[in-house]
Amino acid sequence: MKSIASPLFAALTATALLFAAPAHAAEKTYQVATDAAYAPFESLNEKQQAVGFDIDVLSAVAAKAGFKVKFINTPWEGIFATLSTGDRDVVASAVTITPERKQTMDFSDPYFEAKQLIAIGPNSKIAKFADLKGKKIGVQTGTTGDEIVQKLVGKTNPDIRRFESTPLALKELLNGGVDAVVADNGVVVNFIANNKNDKLKVVDDTSFAKEYYGFAVKKGNKEMLAKINKGLATIKADGTYDKIYKKYFGK
Ligand code: ARG
Repeated sequence: MKSIASPLFAALTATALLFAAPAHAAEKTYQVATDAAYAPFESLNEKQQAVGFDIDVLSAVAAKAGFKVKFINTPWEGIFATLSTGDRDVVASAVTITPERKQTMDFSDPYFEAKQLIAIGPNSKIAKFADLKGKKIGVQTGTTGDEIVQKLVGKTNPDIRRFESTPLALKELLNGGVDAVVADNGVVVNFIANNKNDKLKVVDDTSFAKEYYGFAVKKGNKEMLAKINKGLATIKADGTYDKIYKKYFGK
């Protein structure tokens, strides 16, 4: 048929093909929640962009598994609810995998081992976790640090001073408003290193269990989990993960 060969038809066909099968299949962009007040895992740079270990790890995972990520600074309180509402696809926020959290969300394979540390002032006599009884203890609301302190002194004990971020709790320790802060080791060590003149000390209690960070997704989102786990396995096998680890934590 003559009309099929018409230039207009050819142009339309070419346009249709362009949309149907672009040279680079469009990669899906996923929205990632991160509470970016948690250096060295996630913090904001001068341009208000999220940077840190978690950002590098998930970005590398995405690059290997063929998807894109957009990090959105999201307050810790309510961060998990953004998964169930569908506002975010992933939470990448130094999240400890716990049995309780597993009931309401799914986790990727672990990507980092952590534990709690107690930060104290230079002249403090606190030497072990049990010494925190009767002291004012700073924690970030709803973290694993909050949980273990609750176990020690009781959930509603007014001695637990809850802050919306871990740096705020640590600043309160510098101000003398709390006697100690219980939080993840990486963040405590980083804060102390960046505030050397204040001479804060750490207490490492042997009773603290190992914790593992995972990327959280909406319960039942198998597709997202499979992509993340595939990318994680790849970056662990090809040396990318080790490179990122070294960048933030040395050997
Ligand atoms: N690992 C701890 C937890 O899961 C604290 C994580 C806090 N993360 C953050 N970006 N503020 O409870």
